[in-house]
Amino acid sequence: MNSFTDKNQEIALIGCGYWGTIIAKTLIELNFKNISIYDANKNNSKTLKNKYKNLIVENKFSKILENDEIKNVFFATPPSKNYKIVKNALLHKKNVFIEKPGVTKISELKSLNLISIKNKCKLMFGYVYCYNDYIEFIKKTLNKKKLGQILYISFHRQNLGPIRSDVNVADDLSSHDLSIILYLFKKLPKVLKHIKYSLLKKNIYDISNLHMKLKNIYIDINNSWLNPKKIRTLTIIGTKKMLLFDEMNLDEPIKIYDKYATYPKIQDFNKKFFKSKALIHVGKNISPKIKTKPALANEIKHFFNSDLTKNKPITNYKFSLKILNVLKRI
Ligand SMILES: NC(=O)c1ccc[n+]([C@@H]2O[C@H](COP(=O)([O-])OP(=O)(O)OC[C@H]3O[C@@H](n4cnc5c(N)ncnc54)[C@H](O)[C@@H]3O)[C@@H](O)[C@H]2O)c1
Repeated sequence: MNSFTDKNQEIALIGCGYWGTIIAKTLIELNFKNISIYDANKNNSKTLKNKYKNLIVENKFSKILENDEIKNVFFATPPSKNYKIVKNALLHKKNVFIEKPGVTKISELKSLNLISIKNKCKLMFGYVYCYNDYIEFIKKTLNKKKLGQILYISFHRQNLGPIRSDVNVADDLSSHDLSIILYLFKKLPKVLKHIKYSLLKKNIYDISNLHMKLKNIYIDINNSWLNPKKIRTLTIIGTKKMLLFDEMNLDEPIKIYDKYATYPKIQDFNKKFFKSKALIHVGKNISPKIKTKPALANEIKHFFNSDLTKNKPITNYKFSLKILNVLKRI
C-alpha cells in the first residue's frame, strides 16, 4: 500500500535547503516513519538529520532511485536542476512531487509529462496556496458573489530574500499568485504590461510588476525579494464589499470590509444639483473565523490521495503548464 494512511511506507525527499526542511518537518508531523533524504550538498542533509534524528541520509541519489520500496519522491531543489533529477526519478517509476515552478523550460515540462504518462507515475507540482484553507474560503466567498461584481485584485508578495540566482522574482513569487488566480477562476489573465527591474544581477530581475486583465477584472501582481518588510497580501475590490487576505496578520488574516465606492446614477438626481462626486459607503467590517489546517500538510495529503485517473492532482501538469506559459512569455 502506498496511500496516505500507510505511514510505514518508504518515501524520499531530495533537497534539504529552506523549503526541503519544512517539507521534512511536515512529513514527520504527518507521522511518516521511513523518510530517506538526499542533497547534493552533504552538509545540508547532515544539518537536517541533526534536526530530525529519524531521517535516513543517503549520500547518493542512485540509492534512492534503485530502492524499489520507495514509490513517492518529493523534490525541493532549484528549478534549474530539476529536469535532470526529476526525469531520472520518473524513469525509475517514482511518483513525483516537485516544488513550484518546477522547471525553467516548457520543453522540459512537456518531456517530464510524457515520461510520467509512459511510466504511469504521478507528477504533481507544489503550488501550496491551492491547498490553503484561507484561499478555499475566498473561493467560496467569490462563488457566492458576496463581494458583488469583482472590479480589481492586487497581490503584494515581498520580503528580503530568498534571492534566487537561477530564476527571476516572477518565476519564484508570481508563480504563487498566478496559481491562486488559476485556482480561483480556472483561468489565467492576459498580461497587459510587465515592468521589471534587475538591480542586483544582470539578466535576473528582482522586482516585478505584472498588470493583467481577466474578463473585466484588472489584476496586479507586485513582487520583490528586496524589501526589508515581509508583505503578503491579496486584496479584492468588489462593487459591494472589499476583502483583504493578509498572511502576516495572524490574528485576523481575512477581513471583509463593508465598503465600496460608486458614482450616483444620473437619473437618481435632479440634474440641476447633480455633482459628479463618487459616493463612499462605509459599513461594518468582519473578520471571519476560519478553521484551517497547515496548507503544506493538506497538499502532501492530496499528493498521496490523488491518482492517475479520476482523482488527478489539482496542481498537475496542465495546471503547471498554464503558469509556466505566462512566466515564459513575460
Ligand atoms: N511552496 C513554497 O511556498 C516554497 C517556498 C520556498 C521555496 N519553494 C521552492 O522549493 C524549491 C527549493 O527552494 P529552497 O528555498 O528550499 O532552496 P534552497 O537553495 O534553500 O535549497 C535547495 C537545496 O537543493 C540542493 N540541491 C541543489 N541541486 C541539487 C541536486 N542536483 N540534487 C540534490 N540536491 C540538490 C541544494 O544543495 C539545497 O540544499 C524551489 O523550487 C522553490 O521555488 C517553495
